[in-house]
Amino acid sequence: MTGKYERVRGVVDAIAGLLRACCGEGGATAKAAQRMLDRLATTELTPGAFADLPPQSPGLHRALLNEAIEHMQAPGLLALQQALMAAVDDLVWAEDQMKYYAPDANVGAGYRTGNLHTLLIGPGACGFEHADFTLGFFLLHPRTLYRDHAHPAPETYVNLSPRSGWRFGEGDWRDLGPGSLVFNPPMAPHATRSYAQPFFSVFSWLKDIGEPCVVLPRDDWTEIEQALPDL
Ligand SMILES: [Fe+2]
Repeated sequence: MTGKYERVRGVVDAIAGLLRACCGEGGATAKAAQRMLDRLATTELTPGAFADLPPQSPGLHRALLNEAIEHMQAPGLLALQQALMAAVDDLVWAEDQMKYYAPDANVGAGYRTGNLHTLLIGPGACGFEHADFTLGFFLLHPRTLYRDHAHPAPETYVNLSPRSGWRFGEGDWRDLGPGSLVFNPPMAPHATRSYAQPFFSVFSWLKDIGEPCVVLPRDDWTEIEQALPDL
């Protein structure tokens, strides 16, 4: 019989396994993966360090979370998919109630009502405590624009969805596939969008996590949000 610690630890280990596989790809992907593994190495993952918080259901987001996990079909993601299916009801799922932004930040209704995350590692995480490193999962509802923003923390995403849209700085939108890594250096502007399926990813802030995100206004948000049903 596997206990809660083993199940949550299994998710962290599956993420580490995915990152180690990414290290074999070389280039920017390997570098981003290694950065996360280096921070993971500073985290105590023993049973004694397990936070063991009471679980919190994804609530209204349950069906979309299940859909996102079911769509983790790429071969490299199957171990993580299995580990997450086993542990999903052990985790504390929460909406970002502007914890990561100033209360009046112009994040848009899409983000406000359509985001969900859980912290495996970090301050107050349901897995393992760390003062200056976060690791978790992040979900955005389908057809949602997560507006352009930036933050002092260097950030890595591991995309788990079949298709996710990204824009970096002044660049054009581009789609990334499952298992792809995104590294956002400190204060580098980035935006994300989802299509017919929810956006789902592993996210990590590597350090300097105390400072909030800032929204970076662009004049095409309304246009993008209106176009999302057809993309
Ligand atoms: Fe970010």
